Amino acid sequence: MHLTKDQLKKFDEDGYLFFPNLFTKEEIKCLSSEVPKLYNIRAEYNYREKGSDLVRTNFAAHLYSKPFAKLARHPRMIQPVEDILKEKLYMHQFKINGKMAFEGDVWQWHQDYGTWFNDDLMPESRAMNIAIFLDDVTEFNGPLLFIPGSHKKGVIKANHDLTTTSYPLWTIDNKLISELVDRAGGKEGGIVSPKGKAGSMIVFHSCLVHASSNNLSPFNRISVYLSLCAVSNHIKRYKRKEYIAHRDFTPIECLPDDCLIKDYQVDLPWEKGVPESAYQTSLDEISK
Ligand code: SIN
Ligand code: MN
Repeated sequence: MHLTKDQLKKFDEDGYLFFPNLFTKEEIKCLSSEVPKLYNIRAEYNYREKGSDLVRTNFAAHLYSKPFAKLARHPRMIQPVEDILKEKLYMHQFKINGKMAFEGDVWQWHQDYGTWFNDDLMPESRAMNIAIFLDDVTEFNGPLLFIPGSHKKGVIKANHDLTTTSYPLWTIDNKLISELVDRAGGKEGGIVSPKGKAGSMIVFHSCLVHASSNNLSPFNRISVYLSLCAVSNHIKRYKRKEYIAHRDFTPIECLPDDCLIKDYQVDLPWEKGVPESAYQTSLDEISK
């Protein structure tokens, strides 16, 4: 699925594009029916909410779960980002975020590239996020919030927050957020929140400032995030474990458009378990 000139222009202005109902119910079921099994696994790659057993984020399912391995090669997800970055892509990060009913915790205001730059030494912000909704996303279950156009600011000063949630994040302070929201239109469009049915997709720039509040509703908000990086822009440091920040820079080759509902051959290199090397980091090297 390629982007039109108008979509590319809109993406450049706003830093995101929203595609309601891009995947069918049948396609989404192939993915969502697999999630409980993945969340039940007792493994380090399942980050649980602070003080709870519910999964906040499952990492790297595309390396051990067939439906998600196929999603990671889906032309409706890969080609729009290739059109924006004009280069082949590799998978920098792959997550299934739970944001489960009543307990799904907040994601503080941040830019993803802030973390990728500070932790992984990714040279430039030539990387994008794609979110696909596995549940309906409404105003009640903690939808993503964006500050339109904030990607134009480049890398914004951030602080490493290790305490608010179970997941360390480089977050942006409230004063700066207020200024950015004001500049984007204040109460008139300074914050937007794409909502829609399961199967909807968002493409957003790695410098777009975003957040989401906690989920007080009785409705789960499970979403999958692909973080795709231009191959020439691969990370230069392995400070984070490999299930969080990938080290395989092989260009992604797309499968056919019907890949979620038909059987195609895909590699599942971590099907029998995560290799020991994926837990090693450059910090281990330094402390030796
Ligand atoms: C993220 O920013 O990486 C996740 C945000 C969310 O799932 O709401
Ligand atoms: Mn993020």
